[in-house]
Amino acid sequence: MMHKSKIFWFLTSLMLCVGARSQLRTDFYSKSCPNLLSIVRKEVKNAIKNEARMAASLLRLHFHDCFVNGCDASLLLDGKDSEKFALPNLNSARGFEVIDSIKEAVENACSCVVSCADILTIAARDSVVLSGGPWWKVLLGRRDGLVANQTGANVLLPSPFESLDRIIAKFADFGLNLTDVVALSGGHTIGLSRCALFSHRISNFSGTGAPDSTLDSRVIPRLQAACPADSDGNNTFPLDVNSRDSFDGHYFENLVKGRGILQSDQILFSSESATSTTRDIVRLYASDPAVFSNDFANAMIKMGNVKTLTGSNGEIRGNCRVVNS
Ligand code: HEM
Ligand SMILES: *[C@@H]1O[C@H](CO)[C@@H](O)[C@H](O)[C@H]1NC(C)=O
Ligand SMILES: *[C@@H]1O[C@H](CO)[C@@H](O)[C@H](O)[C@H]1NC(C)=O
Ligand SMILES: *[C@@H]1O[C@H](CO)[C@@H](O)[C@H](O)[C@H]1NC(C)=O
Ligand SMILES: *[C@@H]1O[C@H](CO)[C@@H](O)[C@H](O)[C@H]1NC(C)=O
Repeated sequence: MMHKSKIFWFLTSLMLCVGARSQLRTDFYSKSCPNLLSIVRKEVKNAIKNEARMAASLLRLHFHDCFVNGCDASLLLDGKDSEKFALPNLNSARGFEVIDSIKEAVENACSCVVSCADILTIAARDSVVLSGGPWWKVLLGRRDGLVANQTGANVLLPSPFESLDRIIAKFADFGLNLTDVVALSGGHTIGLSRCALFSHRISNFSGTGAPDSTLDSRVIPRLQAACPADSDGNNTFPLDVNSRDSFDGHYFENLVKGRGILQSDQILFSSESATSTTRDIVRLYASDPAVFSNDFANAMIKMGNVKTLTGSNGEIRGNCRVVNS
């Protein structure tokens, strides 16, 4: 028969163990998949070598995952009710094949151990680093969700046409504050936007017969050339006019000059309702990119902690596109 104190010790350590598993940790896979980080890094590097834009696309996938049912890889699930068909993702979210090949490489090394949600998180960090941005330690131990939430994706993801107050509120719902809103918007220092999402700004803005007055008149001809009035809105333009593939502070310098491409970018600096606070943070980042780098890394860690599944919740998907049968 087990001695009473032994039983106590056993139960206590069991609880500690379960407790520890419900926290994300940097060394979560150090025993179960010791080469995980280098495997993901190599795959992301290859993908970016094939197409520089892929860094931006992978970073955005992590964001769009975390804002819907938490960072649980729900975005990766296929199907007609998937998040992929929600308005903010349709013909827009990309990089799913790259996630598939990272998952395949990871499965070959350590089968059924690493979640798709963690793969997205690591790939986002590596995309930033490989584009010249900051590095941070990634917390791991997320598990994959069992359902997609198309309605959630439509309702929760911010739209480029929304007011600053609405955008701030959507971030606040996930515990992300003004600093996080501005820092994370700096993700737009890389990547592209379709014309359809900003063309209303380049002529007859809000029925005024003129362009958006917060837009620098010197970039208007470039935007008009990239987005002819008779085109279908699928042409693209860099979100950071000067340096589309480099993760730097130019995005914020652009906002100060009225060169934010999306309305939702420029209002961080120009909105009248804007609390001077977002404007002050934009000014700070424009003048000191090191502060941006530091705040961006911290905000990414905060975003990566949104409503994660841990312990025995959810599952480790074998294929990121389908739940295990
Ligand atoms: C603040 C609210 C945000 C709004 C309204 C917004 C909106 C958009 C829009 C409209 C696009 C272009 C999509 C298209 O062309 O189909 C875009 C692209 C992008 N977004 Fe955001 N976004 C926001 C926040 C973020 C955050 C927090 C991140 C990551 C930290 C991010 C990363 C990106 C990246 C990297 C791209 C380029 C993707 C590519 O080239 O494939 N965005 N965003
Ligand atoms: C989907 O997201 C909405 C909006 O947050 C939420 O109310 C709903 O419960 C979610 N549905 C599922 C199945 O998780
Ligand atoms: C936002 O939260 C971070 C900590 O997560 C903090 O350092 C920062 O000062 C906060 N910003 C604002 C505007 O409250
Ligand atoms: C501008 O928009 C307004 C309102 O939508 C419309 O009545 C007007 O005809 C437009 N003007 C031009 C030049 O397109
Ligand atoms: C843009 O491209 C998508 C996918 O190729 C297509 O389905 C859509 O109809 C195009 N948009 C317009 C406005 O033509």
